[in-house]
Amino acid sequence: RLPSPFTVPLPIPAVKRPVRTDATTDYYELVQREASVEILPGLKTKIFGYDGTFPGPTIESRSGRRIVVRHRNELPVPTAVHLHGGHTPAEHDGHAIDLLLPEGVTNAQTFSHGMVGKVTTGEREYDYPSKQRAATLWYHDHRMDFTAPQVYRGLAGFQLVRDDDEAALPLPEGERDVPLMIVDRSFDEDGTFLYPSVDSTLKLERGVLPAYMEGVLGDVVLVNGAPWPVLEVDAARYRFRLLNASNARRFRLALESSSGDSVPFTQIGSDGGLLERPVTQERLDIASGERFDVVVDFSQLPVGTTVTLANQLGESPSTSRVMRFVVARKAADDSNVPAQLSRIERLDPAKAVRTRDWFFNRGELVAHSGDHNGWTINSATYDPQRIDAAPKLGDIEIWRFGSDLHHPVHVHLDPFQVLARGGHDPGPYDVGWKDTVDVRPSEYVEVLVRFTDYLGPYLMHCHNLEHEDMAMMATFQTS
Ligand code: C2O
Ligand code: CU
Repeated sequence: RLPSPFTVPLPIPAVKRPVRTDATTDYYELVQREASVEILPGLKTKIFGYDGTFPGPTIESRSGRRIVVRHRNELPVPTAVHLHGGHTPAEHDGHAIDLLLPEGVTNAQTFSHGMVGKVTTGEREYDYPSKQRAATLWYHDHRMDFTAPQVYRGLAGFQLVRDDDEAALPLPEGERDVPLMIVDRSFDEDGTFLYPSVDSTLKLERGVLPAYMEGVLGDVVLVNGAPWPVLEVDAARYRFRLLNASNARRFRLALESSSGDSVPFTQIGSDGGLLERPVTQERLDIASGERFDVVVDFSQLPVGTTVTLANQLGESPSTSRVMRFVVARKAADDSNVPAQLSRIERLDPAKAVRTRDWFFNRGELVAHSGDHNGWTINSATYDPQRIDAAPKLGDIEIWRFGSDLHHPVHVHLDPFQVLARGGHDPGPYDVGWKDTVDVRPSEYVEVLVRFTDYLGPYLMHCHNLEHEDMAMMATFQTS
């Protein structure tokens, strides 16, 4: 029942309107609920969705303008909303144990044997000061032990921060500024999402089966919730905000045109907003949680040309393609990619006050059960009561991430700058402000961090969501 690739039109998530605004703040209301939606033509898939949609609606905000989002939980399970890339006070960061319980449920233990933090029933507000530069953020579920199955069911959406500096640039905008949320999923015959959970009700048992602790991969690639979609484009420049929201899959994205012309990506931004200068990339490696902001120039291509977004790491025809663009018409285009996009303050390694090591590693096998105690950071599984680091606000530190396998490492609160990868200068993918960096097998990545404004605790973790749920998280407490 799978559609032929490149036949389903690309959906664009709706932009959410505030319920009210005042001099300083935009107020939003979202409902987390189940819905039946058509992802595969002719079939219904039951999702968990923000406003019942997948992706959730896009929230657009202005740098420095506060946003308050009231979430109502009409799902049968607890949730926690994290704004990924947000510079957010700790109590609004969607900490994994700060649960929003379903309406009418007051006892968090109904849903969890484990530690719980601040618990709210039914509804709560998340308050985002948005004191940060323009960037592509995304919001998603972060419930302890259940992030992977709950994001898989659809709890993810974009939040775009814009600012005056960016608006002053002649970059493609409006309908030519397109967010693309890329995920892989598997489906049953009847259209149901196939996710191997210990307990399919997602109530008590942790959400990931030991057999799937490496990460759950799907065989259908969705962009903005549609399978291998197609977008008709003008012969013009487009800005695409690429997000890999998959649980565990990494993509190597490249553009293949039917005219034989090579079509590169002009990378203009990273997780934390615009780069200083554009970088031409023939391919982009994107791991779970990462964003790449790119401009693609279709202006020189004849009408009728198709440009396929391919995944060079795909293991089958179905996972080797992502979506297709069809140049449908000639059009005026006064956009441009200027040689100078922004200024980025360089964090100076000579000013670093300390170096911390974070080693991401497989846990020990538990004898007898054949079970696993999950994934570890510095040999420890996640314990919400343990503080793993206590950086001071304003200090620059060097954090060294080491790994046994592939681990996309994500740090909350503030973005970082990559200083070195594998003992060498950072790769071309590592430029700009990052909040997620893909640490490859047996590799060290050194980054410069500096936390500001808000007192922790905050999380850092592997963004392979099955690794995360299998305990690959740690706590840093800012002071
Ligand atoms: Cu996108 Cu702590 O996660
Ligand atoms: Cu990992």
